[in-house]
Amino acid sequence: MDREQWGSRWGFVLAAVGSAIGLGNIWRFPYVAYKNGGGAFLIPYMFALLTTGLSFVALEFVIGKKYRGSAPLSYFRINRRMEFVGWWQFAISFVIMTYYAVILGWAMSYIGFSATLAWGTDTKSFLFNSYLNVLPNASVTNFGGIEWHAFIPLLIIWVITLAISYRGVKQGIERVSKIAIPTLVFLFLIFVIRAVTLPGSSLGLNAFFEPQWNQLLNPEIWKAAYSQIFYSLSLAMGIMITYSSYLPEKTDTTNNAFIAAFSNSGFELLAGFGIFAALGFMAHNSGVAVKDLAAGGIGLAFVVLPQIINQLPFPQFFGIVFFACLLIAGITSLISLLEVCISAATEKFGWDRHRAVLTIGGLATLVSVAYSTRGGMYLLDVVDNFVNGFGVLPSAVFEIVLVLWVFHKMKPLMEEANLHSQIRLGGYFKISLGFITPVMLVIILFSSLITNIS
Ligand code: PFF
Repeated sequence: MDREQWGSRWGFVLAAVGSAIGLGNIWRFPYVAYKNGGGAFLIPYMFALLTTGLSFVALEFVIGKKYRGSAPLSYFRINRRMEFVGWWQFAISFVIMTYYAVILGWAMSYIGFSATLAWGTDTKSFLFNSYLNVLPNASVTNFGGIEWHAFIPLLIIWVITLAISYRGVKQGIERVSKIAIPTLVFLFLIFVIRAVTLPGSSLGLNAFFEPQWNQLLNPEIWKAAYSQIFYSLSLAMGIMITYSSYLPEKTDTTNNAFIAAFSNSGFELLAGFGIFAALGFMAHNSGVAVKDLAAGGIGLAFVVLPQIINQLPFPQFFGIVFFACLLIAGITSLISLLEVCISAATEKFGWDRHRAVLTIGGLATLVSVAYSTRGGMYLLDVVDNFVNGFGVLPSAVFEIVLVLWVFHKMKPLMEEANLHSQIRLGGYFKISLGFITPVMLVIILFSSLITNIS
């Protein structure tokens, strides 16, 4: 069977950017940056982007293009003993997908709530009590029943996502990305321009950019910066390998990698600007310090932003714009997580795409029901911390150490990339991926192990 291909270069780039820009950029980055030293975080972040992110995307693009397979098959073609890394990445993608969809379900509900400002003034109680109806004593064994308000939108998210995947790479993923990404950028600019022109916005921007230099020696900040780069660029998860496996032979993968990585980080910084400007406005109105407003991951988008939206002129309009951005950004990422699993299953089990979409999508939908119970929030938090803490960074270490060092693919991959590229991979790529990245990742993993044990 012929492997499907992207219809055009831009179709591929937009799909890769669509995968990269997701909840990680709008909802995770601002709060992680703030929690980890504000402006001081930007230094490890830029360091991680320039010495790891850029080269890592270039590496994954060329692996996918050269070996033309899903993550397990591409690694198998490098060396059959490497196939397990692909299945590990399959597992991480599957697990992330099951809770990622849940948050998108909330975003969808919140578009509806925006129309009437249904969240009222006590937005926290609205989220936890009225909407999610979280059990006060939730635990791993105490889930309560299904919360239908949260379950129905989740089901709709799955139906949309599966319908896109079902239509295939070119007719489904590429077509949707070409419309979704320009729309997202347009809507998000409306939000950011509104936010930075609000009174008090500079209070928030100062808090965001104010460096805490003493924090730079803290290994946790470096860990957070590296994790954010991997999460945000969809790396070490099989995603970029899968997407680039549908590229035609003569593609310039390095150039595309640079475009994807810089667009993603540009969008991420823009999100930081927008969200912190909005927090500054809220601080200005309420007298509460920005740092107290910025606490809490989930809370930032679903508790604090509705409060800010309440105080804007035309609040319904800005509510719809903000939550639509979250939804669009997230759907194009969810599709990419699903594609990792679909392409691996079609190759391993000989299924056709339709069967893989229905089987894997159906299974993921069933699993994600667990998060729509009254104790589901508790589970979501545990799973999120677990996968990000233990899954992704070790997967990245395995990937580069095995590909580049153990199975000696640095040279053939660089040659393959340089064959069709305007930007040549050379000494910088070798040092950043072959040396700086694994050394940094191992130091970070060890020091965080030690801090967690002691
Ligand atoms: N890169 C996307 C985001 O930032 O939301 C999607 C994503 C990929 C999220 C991989 C998480 C992840 F582990």
